[in-house]
Amino acid sequence: MTTHPNLHPALRPGALQHLQLANRYVVAPMSRASATDDGIPTEAMARYYAGFATGGFGLIIAEGAYTDLCHAQAYGNQPGLCNDAQEAGWQGVTNAVHRAGRRIILQLIHAGAVSQAVSVPHAPSAVRPTGKMLDGYGPNRGPYGTPRALSGQDIRDIKAGFVQAAVRAQSVGFDGVEVHCANGYLLDQFLTPETNLRDAPYGGSVENRIRLTAEIIADIRAATGGGFLTGVRLSQAKATQPDYFWHGGLADAALIFAAVAEAGAGFIHLASEVKGYAYHSSTPDGDNLCHFARVTTGLPVIANGGLQDPDLARDVLNKGEADFVAIGKAAMNNPDLPDRIARGRPVETFTYDLFSHGVSIEGQAKWQAERSGIMAVGA
Ligand SMILES: Cc1cc2nc3c(=O)[nH]c(=O)nc-3n(C[C@H](O)[C@H](O)[C@H](O)COP(=O)(O)O)c2cc1C
Repeated sequence: MTTHPNLHPALRPGALQHLQLANRYVVAPMSRASATDDGIPTEAMARYYAGFATGGFGLIIAEGAYTDLCHAQAYGNQPGLCNDAQEAGWQGVTNAVHRAGRRIILQLIHAGAVSQAVSVPHAPSAVRPTGKMLDGYGPNRGPYGTPRALSGQDIRDIKAGFVQAAVRAQSVGFDGVEVHCANGYLLDQFLTPETNLRDAPYGGSVENRIRLTAEIIADIRAATGGGFLTGVRLSQAKATQPDYFWHGGLADAALIFAAVAEAGAGFIHLASEVKGYAYHSSTPDGDNLCHFARVTTGLPVIANGGLQDPDLARDVLNKGEADFVAIGKAAMNNPDLPDRIARGRPVETFTYDLFSHGVSIEGQAKWQAERSGIMAVGA
């Protein structure tokens, strides 16, 4: 296919392994706490995800789905993928996105110590997480409690949960999965020395601390075969610790990226959740981690953090720092962001007012209705 030389680089087609994508705009995973109480995705969720597909996004990474019914769940009304009813709910989502001609993969998450949904969370070690539970989510709120340290059998069960969820994701039509090892959730708790006080095989060196994530990727690959994409999301910062950096800088990054690449990851996605791309995707010495991941592993890299700014996204792609840009908050109020960029229309600024009725899809609809009422009155 020939592309216009002035086309924004994020609008050019791309590929994640075998998965051909219409462009390089990706929806970042965002928990909307909009499933039923039993974690079953709803028709409203199917419409919400289809909206990104019709709005032009090449790939959607659906919000983190919990991987077992015991301790993986992070929030109330979070979707899971652990039983037939949840699987059937996701079928509606994948069908809606595929009907619109776009691709969708599912993020798989175990919340570990920062679960707001289980009474005694499980974690690598009995270390109380820093910070407090996220306000927008429930049912539990306030300071985190001290989690229970996982046994060897618990770890085997967690691995099995990820693999079974991935197999279900494949059978329900997802184009792949993203293993969540970012933002302070369970797999990132293993990677982080302050929350992982274990000995080998899963604690101690960087190689040991990334081992569980690597084993999960390898096991999913073995269970799902070559035609199914398995990527990984990583980050330095945690949702409640935005100023956290990998202690060993590029040396740690080299070991982490190599481990997930050797395990068979099809892409690396670096989350930059709070302070944006430049801050979180660099080491304190100023080295760019996306670029480093790309050149050291040869894998496609997805960058994230404030990349709704077309100039910043252009820069990141043209400099070869990343292959794809994932849009989070701005995609919520601009589900047609790629179409806007293609037509030279402005991207609406995201405002936290969007959550004034909660983080759910329904809450956003209420906010939108109020806003259009105000606009109609003021027009
Ligand atoms: C409401 C909300 C929910 C989120 N849920 C997830 C999630 O389920 N998994 C995840 O890895 N990141 C999650 N994130 C982080 C986003 O994927 C993204 O990294 C962050 O918003 C920064 O990107 P942005 O600057 O484009 O918004 C969430 C962010 C928001 C605002």
